[in-house]
Amino acid sequence: MKVSIIGTGYVGLTTGVALAELGNDIILVDVIPEKLRSIQGGQAPFYEPGVNELLSKHVGNGRIRTSLDTQASVMDTEITFISVGTPSREDGSMNDEYILSASNDIGKALASKDSFHVVVMKSTVVPGTTTGKIKPTLVASSNKQVGIDIGIAMCPEFLREGAAMHDSLNPDRVVIGCEDDGTFDILSGLFEPLGSKVLRTSPTSAEMIKYASNSLLATKISYANEISRICEAVGVDVYEIMEGVGMDFRISPQFLRAGVGFGGSCFPKDVSALMHIAKDLDLKTPILDGVMENNRIQPRHLVSMAERSVGPLEGLRIGVLGLAFKPDTDDIRETRSLPLIQELLRKGALVCANDPKAMDNFREIMQDIDYMEDPNAIVDGSDVIFLMTEWPEYRSIDWGSKEHLKGVFDGRRTVDPGQMKNLKYWSMGKPLAQ
Ligand code: NAD
Ligand code: UGA
Repeated sequence: MKVSIIGTGYVGLTTGVALAELGNDIILVDVIPEKLRSIQGGQAPFYEPGVNELLSKHVGNGRIRTSLDTQASVMDTEITFISVGTPSREDGSMNDEYILSASNDIGKALASKDSFHVVVMKSTVVPGTTTGKIKPTLVASSNKQVGIDIGIAMCPEFLREGAAMHDSLNPDRVVIGCEDDGTFDILSGLFEPLGSKVLRTSPTSAEMIKYASNSLLATKISYANEISRICEAVGVDVYEIMEGVGMDFRISPQFLRAGVGFGGSCFPKDVSALMHIAKDLDLKTPILDGVMENNRIQPRHLVSMAERSVGPLEGLRIGVLGLAFKPDTDDIRETRSLPLIQELLRKGALVCANDPKAMDNFREIMQDIDYMEDPNAIVDGSDVIFLMTEWPEYRSIDWGSKEHLKGVFDGRRTVDPGQMKNLKYWSMGKPLAQ
């Protein structure tokens, strides 16, 4: 089929590449010309393993084209995905300005299109948005009838950054939230070659499934982190505890890795948006409040445990290894390294930092620290090290020869404790040696 995709971020680009791989013709649309130039050259505008290989293949064979023109791209295709950003506003609510602007442009094109066209919301949007905002915007700007001239659906995206290409081609489930059978048939046909389970719901249920999924995953992490602080105090290792807990098939071992907390473009934003909706509905959210509070605590907890271990950090040179919110990405949105570094600077430490992929992005939000390309140089020149992203590069440092270090504090179980025998090394969720 011919598919246009509005917004070429992590979701839009990987969805486009996956659909091209399934044999469809794709037009990727964005408002930023440099992003499209990069895509046209076979390079994703962000670091994501496995994307460039398939992108080059499909730019090369003509299945993927790019455009700055939403209306022309809609005219030229049968299905349009909306995958623009839905960031948090200052008060935690979802900012709908980009999805509404994209919908308005799509509607204007549909005004002069004769054939049936399906519009799919792929961005994460709060329950009620597709039916209550996107549909009226499309109808007003196109003057067409839903279910007759146009189909509208909400298909949430569940990919993880760092594994985006794999997840797009092998989703656990495809949720299709739509009201009419014609739209469902077209979309289930489009996704059929993936061979995944398909769940048909209303658009509002599809929206809620996405928020409930992300909030539950964030809850598992914050739960593990709360248990982790108790484990430290009672003298056991939270990883051993969660191994035993996760062996229960009703619980599963996934997302019970305790550490410095969750970052990224979605968990913090989506949990906040869900709490905001509940507040508007005059509902209390004690679990979600606790999930966010636990996440706020962890970076400060790591710093305070380091102080207990090595004394005041004021005036010490501190190396932070890892700035991306997780490995295999250059994304720094809501990375836990930011509150950690802010806390270190507040305490009067001198901070230098490294990340294999995310230093340029981090430099844009923080200028008053030193950045070093070589993690070994950071370790050699520091008094204390914080490991914040579990990049494999940090395991190959020769830790055995770094006796000058006062301490190494690991927020992500990055290194093997066997490598750290000569050092004062502490990893979150374990008792702190006195
Ligand atoms: P992103 O910020 O990486 O990309 C959004 C893109 O949309 C940008 O390139 C921007 O220039 C473009 N854009 C904005 N307005 C536009 C317009 N009017 N026309 C054309 N392009 C426009 O965002 P993302 O991380 O891909 O996330 C997109 C949505 O998907 C969000 O709602 C997010 O919550 C959701 N989501 C993201 C992930 C993820 O891992 N990043 C996973 C699942 C769901
Ligand atoms: C997450 C979800 O896993 C995806 O299903 C979802 O589509 C996406 O959000 C989204 O809506 O954007 P992502 O943020 O890319 O994906 O990465 P995750 O692997 O989920 O990690 C998120 C954060 O949680 C990272 O900072 C990671 O270090 C942390 N985490 C993860 C833990 O602290 N412990 C764990 O056990 C797992």
